[in-house]
Amino acid sequence: MRVVLGVGAGIAAYKVCELLRLLTESGHQVRVIPTPESLHFVGAATWEALSGQPVSTSPWEQVPQVPHVRLGQEADLVLVAPATADLLARAATGLAPDLLSNVLLTARCPVMFVPAMHTEMWQHPATVANVATLRSRGAIVLEPASGRLTGADSGPGRLPEPAQIFLTAKRVLKRGSAALTPDLAGRRVAVSAGGTREEIDPVRFIGNWSSGLQGYALAMTAAARGAEVTLVAANTGLADPAGVTVVQVRSACELREAMLAAASGADAIVMAAAVADYRPSVRSDTKLKKNASSPVPIELTENPDILRELSTDRRRAGQVVVGFAAETGDLIANGRAKLAAKGCDLLVINQVGDGLAFGTADNAAEILATDGQHTSVPRGPKEQLADEIWDLVAGRLGLSWPPLNFGEVQFRGRVPTWPVACSLLSQSLKAIPTRSPTRSVTPSSTR
Ligand SMILES: Cc1cc2nc3c(=O)[nH]c(=O)nc-3n(C[C@H](O)[C@H](O)[C@H](O)COP(=O)(O)O)c2cc1C
Repeated sequence: MRVVLGVGAGIAAYKVCELLRLLTESGHQVRVIPTPESLHFVGAATWEALSGQPVSTSPWEQVPQVPHVRLGQEADLVLVAPATADLLARAATGLAPDLLSNVLLTARCPVMFVPAMHTEMWQHPATVANVATLRSRGAIVLEPASGRLTGADSGPGRLPEPAQIFLTAKRVLKRGSAALTPDLAGRRVAVSAGGTREEIDPVRFIGNWSSGLQGYALAMTAAARGAEVTLVAANTGLADPAGVTVVQVRSACELREAMLAAASGADAIVMAAAVADYRPSVRSDTKLKKNASSPVPIELTENPDILRELSTDRRRAGQVVVGFAAETGDLIANGRAKLAAKGCDLLVINQVGDGLAFGTADNAAEILATDGQHTSVPRGPKEQLADEIWDLVAGRLGLSWPPLNFGEVQFRGRVPTWPVACSLLSQSLKAIPTRSPTRSVTPSSTR
């Protein structure tokens, strides 16, 4: 699809190089339109090289092609990041001195602003009014993240992580502005992420390779879909996602406490963290010294099984519990055994290795459900797997139908009213090719 990526003169412009990479690598044709002032931060050569497209800041270049009109008319999405206070003001008042602000006036596709600025600028009544004006006209204006700003100060005004912006942009490209209809609004979810560390002494621990990226993708996706998210993060070192409450923990016991607390009010729980099965029975207060004669054996004590506890003793009626399993052998057989042993509703089984699961941007999984549903999610960004998991959770919370495969036709989305459902069903039955009479119409997914 055709994306116009507008870049304002904010210090966060450098982060947008990563956003551009995510957009082009997922197959979109991206035309970068920086404002003239923004070239102080990232030069035109960088945008041209990364996008493979010419870059211009002025409507007075390539005039025969009238780019100030054509680029806006042809775009499927105009995404502006960082959207500075000045640029938001130009867009709100309709001023058009440069190419980007002209494009904002000619675009008929969804327009998404990602503001980034100091807290004082973001909270200034002028900016507040400009954002309200833009939203009232149908533009999408994301909330900035909170955290470290340009200097030593911190607060709301930070550009959300490029992966989070990309995820939202992708949803808008796939489903239009309505994609941001928050289907998880009013729902609370708790997600665990990262890998626990069990201390041996003040300098050593038993740990694992989990980076936390999948759990963070789950938290960001749920927040983008309107959920109130608590993220229990174990040793990830990742930036807090915008709009998410983050609780930092280190050990399995700390993670258990934090998850039990978050679970009491949650509609859904996803245990994506890699939790150590065992911890040293005794943690030495002083560093263990090397023993010349023989290594000191470490006695282990079993950690609580948090997933099983949360699954068998539900904190809330109707709560959906999702577990993760990292496997190296027979995924499905091991997954079925784990699903039965844990008692959760859904089990996401990752194949470990081959550039998947730990520390990578991509993942693939088999998702097994207690009701027999089996969903295959092919290799793709972790946000894609996260979205699939939330689709399945939403289905179980009665918020939407999980994807239904009727022959070549697939439906997804909110629960349709009965007449609409009947009409969709009859259309889909007509669409089933007659050459495959045995084709199943059960809600299984093969994506
Ligand atoms: C070092 C530096 C960093 C800046 N960072 C931001 C910023 O993050 N957000 C913002 O709204 N303005 C920021 N400004 C101010 C804008 O660059 C200035 O308002 C500019 O005119 C905006 O141009 P634009 O409308 O083309 O984006 C910054 C200025 C400087 C010198």
